[in-house]
Amino acid sequence: MKKILAIGGSNSKNSINRKLANFAANQFTDSQVFKYDLSSFDIPLFSVQLEEIIGIPDLVLEFAKQVDESDFLVLSLAENNGNLNAGFKNLLDWTSRIKDRKTFGNKSMLLMATSQGGRGGSSVLDIAKNLFPRQGAEIKGTFSLPSFYQSFNEEIGITNEEIAENLNSIINEIIL
Ligand SMILES: Cc1cc2nc3c(=O)[nH]c(=O)nc-3n(C[C@H](O)[C@H](O)[C@H](O)COP(=O)(O)O)c2cc1C
Repeated sequence: MKKILAIGGSNSKNSINRKLANFAANQFTDSQVFKYDLSSFDIPLFSVQLEEIIGIPDLVLEFAKQVDESDFLVLSLAENNGNLNAGFKNLLDWTSRIKDRKTFGNKSMLLMATSQGGRGGSSVLDIAKNLFPRQGAEIKGTFSLPSFYQSFNEEIGITNEEIAENLNSIINEIIL
């Protein structure tokens, strides 16, 4: 049984991206899903001076361990002002400072984004598509869900048939 780590790229308690990541991860067959909730952790703001004083926080080492112990990452990114959510960027900055490993641990990834607007986080998705491979992510598929509150229902998931089918076909093409 493959281990999937579902990550919402946001420090919001009610993150819609965490909901999408958890939903998409659960669509994979023969797999066990582990959920990473960044909003549960109080990770200090990275600076080189703080790093000199405290080293890498245990919470960050634990995140890297969860990545390393996974077979596959399902990540959905919040878009804030066209870019990564600051809390998630902070986690990535800390993680990138761990020696002898890349941020995403050379793991395969389904990379997604959703937002309440019609562009579905496409700006942050474009940034991450280019950036994350250099940070050790092997991107196997990308997906954007526009207008989250019109397109997603907590009980059944994606409500628009065409968009749901699009995600299914992306997932079906991924070999874990
Ligand atoms: C500071 C801030 C900036 C935002 N910037 C964008 C943006 O650039 N594009 C967008 O589509 N939505 C933007 N939004 C709306 C987010 O898509 C929305 O808050 C969404 O819930 C974020 O995902 P999350 O719930 O997973 O954190 C912004 C929201 C905040 C609070």
